[in-house]
Amino acid sequence: MKSSLILVVFATLCGIGFSLECYTCSVAETDPDFDKTCIDHPEELLATDCNKNYCTIIRQEYKDEENIVASMYRGCEDYPMYINKTFEDETYRFYYFSCQEPLCNGGSGKSPKTALRMRFANSDDIGVFMKVTNSYALLGGEEHSEHVCSLIRGDLSEIPVINTSLEGCRVIGRMCVGNKNGLLLPEATYDTELQHIRNELPDSVKVETIQDRLSALGNVIVCNDHVAIVHPDLDKESEEIIADTLQVEVFRHMIANNPLVGSYCVLSNQGGLVCADINNSELENLSSLLQVPLVVSWHHKQGNKTVASGLVVSDHIAYAGMKTTSSEFTAIDTAFGLIPPRHY
Ligand SMILES: *[C@@H]1O[C@H](CO)[C@@H](O)[C@H](O)[C@H]1NC(C)=O
Ligand SMILES: *[C@@H]1O[C@H](CO)[C@@H](O)[C@H](O)[C@H]1NC(C)=O
Ligand SMILES: *[C@@H]1O[C@H](CO)[C@@H](O)[C@H](O)[C@H]1NC(C)=O
Ligand SMILES: *[C@@H]1O[C@H](CO)[C@@H](O)[C@H](O)[C@H]1NC(C)=O
Ligand SMILES: *[C@@H]1O[C@H](CO)[C@@H](O)[C@H](O)[C@H]1NC(C)=O
Repeated sequence: MKSSLILVVFATLCGIGFSLECYTCSVAETDPDFDKTCIDHPEELLATDCNKNYCTIIRQEYKDEENIVASMYRGCEDYPMYINKTFEDETYRFYYFSCQEPLCNGGSGKSPKTALRMRFANSDDIGVFMKVTNSYALLGGEEHSEHVCSLIRGDLSEIPVINTSLEGCRVIGRMCVGNKNGLLLPEATYDTELQHIRNELPDSVKVETIQDRLSALGNVIVCNDHVAIVHPDLDKESEEIIADTLQVEVFRHMIANNPLVGSYCVLSNQGGLVCADINNSELENLSSLLQVPLVVSWHHKQGNKTVASGLVVSDHIAYAGMKTTSSEFTAIDTAFGLIPPRHY
């Protein structure tokens, strides 16, 4: 008697404290009358006044098919299984999302921050074949990369994803550099390629070419939306084009005595990952120069110092080569504030 009274009082207090309105619906493709309202327009359904800590979404997509939803759940829970997490099994990609504002679970459920494993162009050196920024992505796709290209298009549905070669080559990650504001291409880029890229990019993204003896721009320049580090021997004119096109402050710098800064460092606006050869004193100096926290990459037996060949990032997503280990994912997570996937 007494304890049930306490329970009632407690529940009432909690009710006042945690009243939270959430969308509540669920749908699976196996339902006899599969209706996508819960997936695309939950606001057309009745919301529920929940006595819970979190509004939640669990979205289940086919790993192999762009944006094809197998099931969608919107609800409210005190203790969600995962607060915010993305992971894959053999067939599906699962997105868990939790939030604490009224009606905050009306979105797609795809967390904007996820680190995902993939192979591109049949290679783990995905950074060699692609470039991702906050306003566009370039892919050096081949005929048989349609599948992976469409996965990326699904992940990055808000920005243009452009399949292109540069000078007829697929190793575009090595050859160009860019950020939210601009894109720099080698002078020898074909006119047809340049035209294709200009057509696909929004007008706000400036496209320029650079004529420099150091023509592998992706290897000699690394940038985010605010700063760039460049190979110390880059031409003065190149430096000016970089500053102007990418709207960044430019620093000539080496990383651990290596001038290939674009291979040895990966940057977002949140942070950066640097090759393992760097010592603490240099790391601190570089971090204060760039004004972002930097993390030193893994250094195990298979470790590859050229971090940029196995990793591409924006502020919203990271892709890492299939061979990336879980300790490497931890470094990526720490460096960029991303949520690493959990594999079964
Ligand atoms: C989960 O991630 C979303 C999007 O980044 C964020 O708005 C939300 O606050 C996060 N949830 C929690 C409980 O931290
Ligand atoms: C990408 O473009 C190349 C030609 O530049 C083409 O051969 C390939 O089929 C395209 N791939 C996709 C996935 O569109
Ligand atoms: C750290 O590395 C820099 C550049 O490679 C070098 O000049 C410096 O002497 C090193 N400092 C220490 C304490 O090892
Ligand atoms: C880092 O900066 C400090 C202070 O300017 C300097 O003494 C030190 O030599 C620098 N370290 C490296 C590796 O450049
Ligand atoms: C590191 O990756 C680059 C780019 O693919 C490759 O050329 C190089 O051989 C790799 N190094 C090691 C030690 O695996």
